[in-house]
Amino acid sequence: MPNDSITTTQHFLQAKAAQRKLSMVTCYDYTFSRLLSQSPIDGILVGDSAAMVMHGHPTTVTATVEMMRIHIEAVARGAGGKLVVADMPFLSYRKGLTAALEAAHILMGAGAGALKLEGANGHEDVVQRLTESGIPVMGHVGLQPQSVHAYGRYKIQGRNSEGALDILRAARKLEELGAFAVVLECIPATLAAEITAALDVPTIGIGAGASCDGQILVLQDLLGMNLDFKPKFVRRFGEAARGVLDAFAQFDEAVKAGTYPAAVESYE
Ligand code: KIV
Repeated sequence: MPNDSITTTQHFLQAKAAQRKLSMVTCYDYTFSRLLSQSPIDGILVGDSAAMVMHGHPTTVTATVEMMRIHIEAVARGAGGKLVVADMPFLSYRKGLTAALEAAHILMGAGAGALKLEGANGHEDVVQRLTESGIPVMGHVGLQPQSVHAYGRYKIQGRNSEGALDILRAARKLEELGAFAVVLECIPATLAAEITAALDVPTIGIGAGASCDGQILVLQDLLGMNLDFKPKFVRRFGEAARGVLDAFAQFDEAVKAGTYPAAVESYE
């Protein structure tokens, strides 16, 4: 019996061949996953950004396999036939092959259809073993948020020729190791265009310009739920924070004015 997620990773490759753009959104919970399942969005990422967006941590470094498992389970229950890609959290794929496979087993068991790992150097064996084990792998190069402490701060990567070449090489290596797609985060648009042209697998950009084969945004950024956060690459496709604050204010007013609940909202 065909598996939806396998069909969908193949669909990602077919989309590139057909020059059809791919859309992905992050998601961490059942309610939004159900809404995404009713949308035309191509794929869902249970990002380790959950640590920041859902748990209020300053970086993704505090995401754990257990945290990811809980979010993946919730998202997978609502995702319908959408591809659910999940991040392997910080260090979970850097403690040796056996530990990486154990972490991957938990995340796939929770309902992921593919796993995403940041970078390539030093865990080539993990990427290869995962793909050989039937686990679709999405690469992630450019700005790797799990390396924020090494960077010192979040900053655009690949601005000089040496850095750009390293990113191109890492993307190529991930394709060779069997990745079905590669996320390009916060790199110059020209470099993203070069990488996109060099790879047969699709590139999914975030802060990487318009030439990528697809784009991904964090759901809360896309919906305009966080009024304090607006990096250059984010476009708000909704003004959810305003709608939510407005609803809270209306509820508060109705409660305090005694107009909620009305008779029709009360049991006899
Ligand atoms: O965790 C995440 O949200 C991500 C996206 C930024 C691609 O990795």
